[in-house]
Amino acid sequence: MRHDKVEKNIGLMIILIIVVISFGGLVEIVPLFFQKQTQEAIPNLKPLTALQLEGRDIYIREGCHVCHTQMVRPLFSETQRYGHYTVAGEQVYEHPFLWGSKRTGPDLGRVGKRYSDEWHRVHLVNPRDVVPGSNMPSYPWLEKTILKTTHTEDKMRVLRKLGVPYSDQDIEQAQDEVANKTELDALVAYLQQLGLAMSAGKQ
Ligand code: HEC
Repeated sequence: MRHDKVEKNIGLMIILIIVVISFGGLVEIVPLFFQKQTQEAIPNLKPLTALQLEGRDIYIREGCHVCHTQMVRPLFSETQRYGHYTVAGEQVYEHPFLWGSKRTGPDLGRVGKRYSDEWHRVHLVNPRDVVPGSNMPSYPWLEKTILKTTHTEDKMRVLRKLGVPYSDQDIEQAQDEVANKTELDALVAYLQQLGLAMSAGKQ
C-alpha cells in the first residue's frame, strides 16, 4: 500500500510533512497580503517625525524590544491593563515591526503620554529612581550622547520608498528637529507617541 511506503520511509515522510505544513501556511498567510485591512493606515496615523524616527533607532540599538513588546494581544488581562489590542492599521509604517515576543517588562505599544517626559528621562537614566525594585537596565549614556544625524534624511527617503508618506518638506526640515538633541531626547520623543494614533481615533 502507498501509505505503508510513506510510514516506513522517514525521508519521504519528512518531505511530505513539509509540503503539507507549507501549504497550510500559505493558505493562512498569503490572503493577508491582499487584505485591505492589513495594509491601510488607521485614520490618525502619522509617520514618525525625524526626532521620533531617530529615537526608534536608539530603541532598536539598545535592544529595548528584547524585553518589551509593542503588541497588545486581544486577551482580557492585556486590554484591561494597556487598552485596545494592537491592530494592523497602526503598524503599516513600521519597517521593521517591533512587536517583540519577550515580555520581561510591560508592553509599550500604548505607553505614549502615560508618563511625563521627565519621568521617562529619570527612568531611563536609572529605573530604580522611580520604580523601586525595577530590574530594567540603566541607560545613563543616552543623556550624555549627542544624536548622530548624518543619515536622518536618508532614513526618511528609504522609508518613503517603502510607502511611508514623508513629504519633501518633512525631509528638508528634518535637521531643524534633530540638531543638537541627545539620544535621550530622541528616545523619549519616540516613546511618547506610541499608541497615540489609536487613542486619538477613539475620541
Ligand atoms: C532586561 C529587560 C529590559 C530591557 C532591556 C529594557 N526594559 Fe524597560 N522595563 C523592564 C521592566 C522589568 C520594567 C518594569 C519595571 C519598571 O517600570 O522599571 C520596564 C519598564 C519600562 C517602562 C515603563 C512601562 C510602564 O508601562 O510602566 C518603559 C517606558 C520602558 N521600560 C522603556 C524601556 C526602553 C526605552 C528600553 C531600552 C532603552 C528598555 N525599557 C529596556 C525591563 C527592560
